[in-house]
Formats: sequence, structure tokens, C-alpha cells
Amino acid sequence: MPRARVVRVDPIRPSEEVLEEAAGVLRSGGLVAFPTETVYGLGADAFNSEAVLKVFRVKRRPLDNPLIVHVSSLDMLHQVAVDVPDWVVRALSNAWPGPLTVVLKRRADLPAVVSGGLGTVAVRCPAHPVALKLIEALGRPVAAPSANLAGRPSPTRAEHVVEDLGDEIDLIIDAGETFFGVESTVVDLVSPRPQILRPGPVGPEELEKVFGFQFYLTPLTRGFSTYIETPPSPGMKYRHYAPSKKLVLVEKGSCGFSSYLDFLIDLLRSYSAESPALLATRETIDEIGMKLGADIAYIALGSRENLFEVAKNLYSSLRSLDKLDKISIAFSESIEEKGLGLAIMNRLRKASSERLVCK
Ligand code: TXA
Ligand code: MG
Repeated sequence: MPRARVVRVDPIRPSEEVLEEAAGVLRSGGLVAFPTETVYGLGADAFNSEAVLKVFRVKRRPLDNPLIVHVSSLDMLHQVAVDVPDWVVRALSNAWPGPLTVVLKRRADLPAVVSGGLGTVAVRCPAHPVALKLIEALGRPVAAPSANLAGRPSPTRAEHVVEDLGDEIDLIIDAGETFFGVESTVVDLVSPRPQILRPGPVGPEELEKVFGFQFYLTPLTRGFSTYIETPPSPGMKYRHYAPSKKLVLVEKGSCGFSSYLDFLIDLLRSYSAESPALLATRETIDEIGMKLGADIAYIALGSRENLFEVAKNLYSSLRSLDKLDKISIAFSESIEEKGLGLAIMNRLRKASSERLVCK
């Protein structure tokens, strides 16, 4: 039996009583896992440095990897950030609540541990009634990374939080599966070169509409692991979202689609003695499954035509890989880097231990 109390609530009209209880846990320095529209977060009172340090400890998260602070209104932003330009306030009044995190200058009275010692702070206002009402009930900003053990796939269901942290935390608010399934878009608004630090549900075109200018997208943002000691966002240097099985991401480079499918078939055939798994879109599984047969564990990510579905299923698919005892290696199809595909490919690159490109 896990230690944490798991309480089920309605995602749209959550029980006031449960929210009051959860706010009480936060007020007394405890940790509460709660749903957002992206993934489940592990919350602590952002102004209680002891509680914030407990978040790092139970997640086994490196102390230099800063947390996101969650607010329930645009006004509350000013409790954690300073020198916020008017154009940022204007843009956020359109984009919030929503899956967009902005990096701004940190207010000196917000404990530095929240930001892993940096002079900046990442802030977002989540579009989920449970998250918003919890922050409102506490009346203060809530620091919350994703509620998984460091390096594991982010939780999209309360069961995932129980798996990773059930023995370590006080309360888990279960409101069912999260809507997007991948974490918020993170953008840097303090450095002279506005950059996407982590691609997410708010894509580059949408960002341009919100802010009126283009953001830079670097290879690091796309999930390539060019090692640098001090990347623009500390999270970029850690391997993430990784299943414990060996995962090979098979990228479709410049080769044609049918050559790409043949390439996947050859790979899977050559590993057939190890009963490999294939993570792929339904269409690909339908197409190559007929040629390959039953020695392979197929994990469908969703339809190629519906990247929302693929994003939503991604992390639970990675977690389900670990539960397939027989397999020791998995291959993953790649997704076109358009719209949500940018976020999906970033996560797949960070989850895989090897990458192969079909040219
Ligand atoms: O959707 C989300 O953003 C979820 C939900 C719970 O809100 N949260 C989440 O938090 O994904 P976390 O801690 O797993 O990821 C935060 C990312 C990390 O890559 C971290 O390095 C980056 O944001 N970050 C946080 N503060 C930063 C800062 N001051 N400067 C640059 N990057 C920062
Ligand atoms: Mg995380």
C-alpha cells in the first residue's frame, strides 16, 4: 500500500473539501500531486524553501534543474517575477491560462532553490480547474515540476504518480488522464535572443501570434544532445522521459517513406530473436505488421493524422514498455516535426538511448 492518499475528484467541478485539504497540506510544508492540462505536477508552496527542497529530494532531481512556479492569475505573476515588460503582460493576458511557461527575472524574495540558484524564474498559469483552484485555495504560487522520478516519463495519470512517488508524498489528487500529455512550452524572455527552451503544445507559429516575433529554435531545443556545460535551460542537459529498456529512435531523414518502412522492417527482423517492441503510429503498425507477424510487441501511439492523440499516449506508452518482461529492445518510429510533432520528437530524442537516421 502506498503511503500517499489518492483522492478522486471531478476534473471540471472538483470537491472544495478536497482542495481545502490539499491547500492545508501545502500550507504545512507537505507535497501534493495534482493534475494540469499537460501532465501531473508535484506541488509545494513556492515560498517554503524546505518544502521545495523536499520536491528535489523525493524526485531525486539534480538541484541545479529549476522548477516551474504555477500561478492562478496574471496578477500573481508579480509575486515571483520582477521587471516584467508591458509587452509580456499583454501577451500573457491572451495566452494564459494555458500550456505556456515563460522565463523572467526572479524576484529576490522567492527562494533561489526554486530556480536552482538562477536569477530567473519559470512561471505558468495552468488551464486546469483543479490546478487553478488549488493555487487559489493556497493563495500563493505553487512550485511544481512534473510528478515523476527524475529521468522517468512524466505522469499523465494518477497511477503513474503512485508508481514513482506513492511512498514519498502526502496526497495525490486524481482527476483522470491529462489533456495534452506532454509538458508546457517553455520560452526564454530575458536573454536578448528569445528562444524556445522546450517545445510543447504552444507551437512556434502560435508563439509568433502571441508575441509578435519569432523565437529561435536550436538543435538542443529539438532534443539533440549536443553536450554543453551551461545550456540556456538546465533541463536540456539531462536525459529525460526514459524507459528502462533500450529504446532506439529510428528517424526518417531524407529517405522516402516506403524506404523508411522497409528500413524499420529490416531492423525488426534482424532483432526477432530478442522479441523486440515497436512504438509506432497505427497506420505504420497496420502497414508493416502484416509483413512482420506476431513476434513483435506493437505499441500504438495513435494516428499519424492526429498528433494530439500521439502526444497524449506517448508517456504511458513509454511506461508500458517497461512492463513488457520479454522484450529487451524497442524501436520507435519518428514523427514529422510540425506542430505538436516538434514536442513529440524532442521527448523521443531525450527518451532514446540510440538514434538512427534513414537517409
Ligand atoms: O507542463 C509543465 O510544464 C509541467 C506541469 C506540472 O506544469 N511541469 C514541468 O516541470 O514539466 P519540469 O520541472 O518537469 O520541467 C521544467 C523545465 C525544465 O526543463 C527546467 O530546466 C526548465 O523548465 N526551467 C525551469 N526554470 C527555468 C529557468 N529559470 N530557466 C531556464 N529553464 C528553466
Ligand atoms: Mg519533468
